[in-house]
Amino acid sequence: KKIAVFASGNGSNFQVLLDAVTKGDFQAEVSLLVCDRPGAFVIERAENAAVPLFVFNPKEFKDKAEYESQILSRLKQKNVEWIILAGYMRLIGTTLLQAYEGKIVNIHPSLLPAFPGKDAVGQALEAGVKETGVTVHYVDAGMDTGEVIAQEAVEIIPGETRESLQAKIQKVEHRLYPAVVKTLLNGEKEVTSI
Ligand code: GRF
Repeated sequence: KKIAVFASGNGSNFQVLLDAVTKGDFQAEVSLLVCDRPGAFVIERAENAAVPLFVFNPKEFKDKAEYESQILSRLKQKNVEWIILAGYMRLIGTTLLQAYEGKIVNIHPSLLPAFPGKDAVGQALEAGVKETGVTVHYVDAGMDTGEVIAQEAVEIIPGETRESLQAKIQKVEHRLYPAVVKTLLNGEKEVTSI
């Protein structure tokens, strides 16, 4: 099964997905990295692993439909079946949603529907809640509103800092996302750990 990963930043989730495929944890090919930020570290990761890249600057396009149709033609060319969002900081538009209905997933650092959108870790600390977590969900037109596939809670302890909480959340993400992607690609329902 061919997958494309969309990322805008560091790309640690891209890396663990790639590593899982390389180790043979599940049968897949990472056929394309799509990145909307020239200069993002994830680009270096893709180059190191010889993963094909599509890097673009949204400002150079008239609108979302225009750059998404560029993305779409590359996805089609490579027979990509699933779109895996991993820190892609943009809403997906109609062009991709229609072409990949039910085949786009995202990972978000909170227990959705709590704390959608940007800086979910900061939002949870600000709110003073005792737990937050990680959600993997299908993507629809809204901001982090699609159907939930898997969630895992992370405790917030007294004296928790943004850095410590971020680290705990990323640790969970790096275990959960490959496991969920494996489940989806195999057409299974129950998420089991790798
Ligand atoms: C992750 O925390 C993910 O939940 C969010 O963006 C972050 C991406 O981190 N959507 P990385 O670039 O994979 O390290």
